[in-house]
Amino acid sequence: MAFADAAETWNRRFEGEDFLFGIEPNEWLREHAGTLPNGGRILCVADGEGRNSVWLARLGFTVDAFDIAEVGVAKARRLAAQHGVNVDFSVADVDAYAWPTSRFDGVAAIFIQFADPAQRERLFARIMASLKPGGILILHGYTPKQLDYGTGGPPFASHLYTPEMLRSAFETLEILVLREYEADVAEGNGHRGRSALIGMVARQP
Ligand SMILES: C[S@@+](CC[C@H](N)C(=O)[O-])C[C@H]1O[C@@H](n2cnc3c(N)ncnc32)[C@H](O)[C@@H]1O
Repeated sequence: MAFADAAETWNRRFEGEDFLFGIEPNEWLREHAGTLPNGGRILCVADGEGRNSVWLARLGFTVDAFDIAEVGVAKARRLAAQHGVNVDFSVADVDAYAWPTSRFDGVAAIFIQFADPAQRERLFARIMASLKPGGILILHGYTPKQLDYGTGGPPFASHLYTPEMLRSAFETLEILVLREYEADVAEGNGHRGRSALIGMVARQP
């Protein structure tokens, strides 16, 4: 199950002046960005209003980013301009994005739980194929316990991640960190409050 019209839903959510998830990077990404090869080429999957891609560009990475919501991408472009950095943004559905093979030194997949199990399988396969040997995947999301908190994320258990599910989905990668934890999240108004989280850092062999 997913939104019938994801672009329309997310464009409406991104309409205001405020940034729904803030302009600071996601906390898991901030903590683990040191694992990304210096100055490497990084893809930010479904980066919404650009908080993660712009931050990585400010750190000196070469960054590509896409999202289905053109309103979000327009805000992301403005955020990049404000910081005087370049990000190669595009508006694309994950299933329509021109996924390259063996191109990226890193992929940031932060709160991309719009994907139902079938779409997620395709998406994870494309992410893995897009990583160069040695490339790093930084992934962050919610576990099913998040349904009790209701402080962000989709209200569908099948979209959420467990450690077993991630271990199995990414069995061809070398998992460097896999942590299920709870924290008080303050990332805009979209993700705020006590949350049941899961983060992973993994390397393409
Ligand atoms: C929870 S937000 C997270 C945004 C961003 N990753 C961040 O951490 O700020 C989920 C994002 O997925 C995007 N999205 C939803 N369905 C999508 C799809 N089929 N293809 C690409 N992006 C999609 C939405 O527009 C939204 O920006």
